[in-house]
Amino acid sequence: MRRIKEDIEGLDVGLLVNNAAVNRPGALYVHEADGDRLARMVLVNVMALTEVTAAVLPGMLERGRGAIVNVGSGSTVAVPSFPLYTVYSATKRYVQHLTRCLNVEYKQKGIDVQCQVPFYVHTGMLSPAIKATMRFPAFVATADAYARDAARWIGHGTLCVPDASQQLQWFLAGLVPDAVHDWYRLRQHLKHRAILRPKLM
Ligand SMILES: NC(=O)c1ccc[n+]([C@@H]2O[C@H](COP(=O)([O-])OP(=O)(O)OC[C@H]3O[C@@H](n4cnc5c(N)ncnc54)[C@H](OP(=O)(O)O)[C@@H]3O)[C@@H](O)[C@H]2O)c1
Repeated sequence: MRRIKEDIEGLDVGLLVNNAAVNRPGALYVHEADGDRLARMVLVNVMALTEVTAAVLPGMLERGRGAIVNVGSGSTVAVPSFPLYTVYSATKRYVQHLTRCLNVEYKQKGIDVQCQVPFYVHTGMLSPAIKATMRFPAFVATADAYARDAARWIGHGTLCVPDASQQLQWFLAGLVPDAVHDWYRLRQHLKHRAILRPKLM
């Protein structure tokens, strides 16, 4: 954190996008996952995001303006659980809650803090297991199209789903009972695990 503060001293950081995250080791029960990899996930998704945010805030406060975009995940917004990716989705729930609280703290001081929520987007984060079991690949946004929509949404609301087809998915997901979501997610993610596990043995 000290190094980041030193590196950005004198720079006018107007916008911070906390995009970096890790979702490996992937679909596993918590007791099966390598502890070091889980710790790394928490360090990147939770600690790094928090520290970088804390480091840029003093400059934004001094100037009385700025925007921070934290990238969350549909795994904590559209569905009530995300089994087998439990630690990943828990880190994203942290991001969502942190954003909400920070926005209340800093909005009056001229700083917008927003959580943008992607559902599936074609990037390196989509593992072969996810791709192999995907039901509606047409719903998956390309990274370029997603990024264009995401840029347009900056400053519009504390929590947003920038992609139009993902907004529709969000609405439809809200019509489904939680128990059905839980059952379906576990079923899908067990398929991911079945593909992933042999590679770990
Ligand atoms: N793709 C999806 O379907 C999806 C869905 C929901 C949410 N998200 C969220 O969208 C955001 C972007 O992910 P993505 O889909 O673009 O995944 P990605 O292709 O795996 O990219 C992750 C990015 O995080 C960076 N990163 C990881 N660990 C880092 C570290 N220790 N230090 C610095 N950079 C690090 C990576 O940098 P390097 O390449 O240099 O390692 C990479 O640029 C993440 O917050 C993710 O949780 C994605």
